[in-house]
Amino acid sequence: MTRPAASLLSVRGLAVAYGDSRVLWDVSFEMAPGEIVALVGANGAGKTTLLRALTGLVPIRGGAMRLAGEDLAPLKSYERARRGIAMVPEGRRLFAGLTVRQNLKLGATARADRTGEADDLDVVFELFPELTRMEGRLAGLLSGGEQQMCAIGRALMARPRLLLIDEMSLGLAPVIVERIAEAVRLINRARGITVLLVEQDVGLALEIASRGYVLDTGRVTIDGPADDLLRREDIRAAYLGLN
Ligand SMILES: Nc1ncnc2c1ncn2[C@@H]1O[C@H](COP(=O)(O)OP(=O)(O)O)[C@@H](O)[C@H]1O
Ligand SMILES: [Mg+2]
Repeated sequence: MTRPAASLLSVRGLAVAYGDSRVLWDVSFEMAPGEIVALVGANGAGKTTLLRALTGLVPIRGGAMRLAGEDLAPLKSYERARRGIAMVPEGRRLFAGLTVRQNLKLGATARADRTGEADDLDVVFELFPELTRMEGRLAGLLSGGEQQMCAIGRALMARPRLLLIDEMSLGLAPVIVERIAEAVRLINRARGITVLLVEQDVGLALEIASRGYVLDTGRVTIDGPADDLLRREDIRAAYLGLN
């Protein structure tokens, strides 16, 4: 197992079920502060369920999750948000009938201290200049790529330490995906935010991340440095359509 020294997020033996149907079995992984880590796997592997467990949207049946040493399990979703966990959900989940600016400002409601909100908006518009001229437009009228930028911007408004991004690339053209991937690298490098990229697009996620974990039917089956994973024959055959 690749295990960084000091961990920001530590997940040990996590088990989650929906009713009688077990989805995650004994999932363990670690994230050091400042890392970009990829959690990849096929549709239905349990990736979104794992993020829901981390953010408190589904209860866990076993195991432990710690953020900077603090047990997350007893904390409600909003308390986890205040500790610095922000999620960009699958499908973006913007409020279609609110403007871009209103959606962004909703992200700041996750934190206790709302001061500096105007500066944070400037940071988001600097990161995504595309959104600047759209700020008064209804989010439902944006393109898929612009919606993804808005969803990432909204999460940043919470000033997270740990940013969870679920299926960043889904449904977007390659050129837009590359643009958003560049922004994610910048968020990580310039602002020191730790990023967990959850992706069906295994090649993309491993290109951005430094390390990766492969989730297969609810279990972590492979982990290692992203470069090594990209070179592995089994991963290339199963997930990259190459051999
Ligand atoms: N709310 C739910 N109730 C019951 N089963 C669910 C629910 N959400 C997801 N599942 C099931 O859990 C498994 C993992 O789903 P999910 O975490 O969404 O996978 P992924 O994000 O990797 O595609 C799938 O078999 C899915 O059908
Ligand atoms: Mg999913």
